[in-house]
Amino acid sequence: MRCRTIIFGLFGLILGLSALLAGVAPALAQERFETLRGPDGHIELRVGTEGGSPVWSASWNGSPVIAPSRLGFILADQTKLERGLSVVAAARTSRDTRWEQPWGERRAMRDRHEELRVTFAEGGPDGRRFDVVFRLFADGLGFRYEFPDQPRLKELRIQEELTEFAVAEAGTAWWIPAGEWNRYEYLYRRTPIAEVGQAHTPITLKLDSGLHLALHEAALVDYSAMWLRRVEGTLFRASLSPSPTGPKVVRSAPFSTPWRTVLMAPDAPGLITAADITLHLNEPNALGDVSWVVPHTYVGIWWGMHLDRWTWAPGPRHGATNANVRRYIDFAAANGIRGVLVEGWNRGWEGQWWGGEAVFDFVTPYEDFDLEGLAAYAASKGVRLVGHHETGGDVAGYEAQLGPALDLYARLGVDSIKTGYVADAGQARFRLPDGTFVRGWHDSQLAARHHLLVVQEAARRRIAINPHEPIKDTGLRRTYPNWVSREGARGQEYNAWGSPTNPPEHEANLVFTRMLSGPMDFTPGIFALKPTQAGRQVNTTLAKQLALYVVIYSPIQMAADLVEHYEANPAPFRFIRDVPTDWEDTRPLAGEVGDYAVIARQDRNSADWYLGAITDESARTLEVRLDFLDPARRYEAQIYRDGPGAHFDTNPTVITIETVTVQAGQSLTLQLAAGGGTAIRFRALDRSTAR
Ligand code: NOJ
Ligand code: CA
Repeated sequence: MRCRTIIFGLFGLILGLSALLAGVAPALAQERFETLRGPDGHIELRVGTEGGSPVWSASWNGSPVIAPSRLGFILADQTKLERGLSVVAAARTSRDTRWEQPWGERRAMRDRHEELRVTFAEGGPDGRRFDVVFRLFADGLGFRYEFPDQPRLKELRIQEELTEFAVAEAGTAWWIPAGEWNRYEYLYRRTPIAEVGQAHTPITLKLDSGLHLALHEAALVDYSAMWLRRVEGTLFRASLSPSPTGPKVVRSAPFSTPWRTVLMAPDAPGLITAADITLHLNEPNALGDVSWVVPHTYVGIWWGMHLDRWTWAPGPRHGATNANVRRYIDFAAANGIRGVLVEGWNRGWEGQWWGGEAVFDFVTPYEDFDLEGLAAYAASKGVRLVGHHETGGDVAGYEAQLGPALDLYARLGVDSIKTGYVADAGQARFRLPDGTFVRGWHDSQLAARHHLLVVQEAARRRIAINPHEPIKDTGLRRTYPNWVSREGARGQEYNAWGSPTNPPEHEANLVFTRMLSGPMDFTPGIFALKPTQAGRQVNTTLAKQLALYVVIYSPIQMAADLVEHYEANPAPFRFIRDVPTDWEDTRPLAGEVGDYAVIARQDRNSADWYLGAITDESARTLEVRLDFLDPARRYEAQIYRDGPGAHFDTNPTVITIETVTVQAGQSLTLQLAAGGGTAIRFRALDRSTAR
């Protein structure tokens, strides 16, 4: 980076001299830098211009983390916004605000940050200008561009954003490729940072010094998603998801871009806590009373299709039949499970249903599915159907039916809907305001608008939304708490499909990469692990499937297996019945990216704690101190652990379930088999029993 800085420096000198000679405002005098230190003092920021180009850099405990990195834009109809700029104003504010999540990994949130607003402007009376607003937190930072209303920038037609992240050190990266056909559904690659290609965010980095970083964004509203392209060495530059209509983003001023974020932590678990920054940078709840958003567990007419036992389309193996759904409703009612998802009930599943146009009818059931009767039957048993809207990527076709489709479910008491956008990346179908149809990216500006439209329309009807093949999570659940979960990574379904199945390290990767962005509808809980289909299997032990309910956070969690597999295994199923989906607090206790993770969470509605521990293909022994427990109580620890000889490949279902009494100050030794895990419920005993 030093070389880059010198080149920029020389360039600035030349620009400055030529400006002087030309008699305009002297650029050299305008090279101005502002600095800011974050709360707790770990992070320091430097923002200014080098040779008239805006740059930012950041350090952690005095060591460079992000070397001088450019800021700016290439526009379609104007010269780029990147040269001839100077800092004309800087303003600082401090904030320490507390807010509550209506549901989430923790209730109490504290947004403590230092803010620096830097105004960059071109010379002359009508020079273009923009602000870059930085917020430094104790464990990360965010910044965004803000464009005020101004005569020469009424509308921005953004070809590319030039934001850079010049990572200052070598290290290891965990990442999935961006711009490839399968959207976010790739296995995580572990490479030197200097061998990353074009990546989605969050991308997780471990620098050689040990510092962990994750680069991501927050509040992706009416803008195209940011991919990161490695330019050279460890230098990354934004690459916005493309648009089928030319400029990647078109916006009228005034407007703000999403926040660009860098999480920083000394270890991998620290990234999980740092990820609160994404929520702090989103706007507060815009929906008012959201008590109708109810975290819950659900079963469904689902895994049977992925196993190829049932079909979505009607026929002899149709899954969404009255008989099957009644059976699932009965099972849910008997086990205190709130939801029953039904896929394949509405017309459109015959033939190739993905990537097409106007394939699905979202209001007409197949003949062997009595929607009204089943909704009433479910209600009579205290259960709710979970809706399903697979669009096959035909956003236009879905938007055309959105009102009636949501109204139908609302009338039947369906208050959460899983949506789906199966189509190759770049092949989603959108209708433009002028009535023409285009094919675009799942994370384009068009897609960002669509997802928010669905969430807002659903909120008007008190319905929660859980999109699969979605746009990535950037914390918008804070503003729209009915956006409860999403897929956006390789889920359990790959263990039925193969090509290939998820390897044992997959979930240990997800925890420190994809999960930094927000909840995931991973669909854990497969008990019949081997085989799923011929030659295919789930590469975990049974105890690890249980641990995933704690480790992979989502306010809606599927118990994904066929109900007969739960009926045949009531002892381990007990954990799925007990484990909550809403938490008072979350403590990431231990872990390494891609190797293992241990997380403890406190139930939002009781004094109970739960713990999940998972490992990759290596067996390991972990010592866990129970410091998170209330010292004034004792707890009955109900432990679900890998049994003797357990192994994800050779012996996945052997499980030991045992109960011991524990209290704060003690430690537990967890022995995880290869591909294994441990799940624990700490049932709080009455305070009077404490010693
Ligand atoms: C892909 C989704 O991830 C899966 O859960 C769903 O069953 C199918 N699409 C069909 O909608
Ligand atoms: Ca999927």
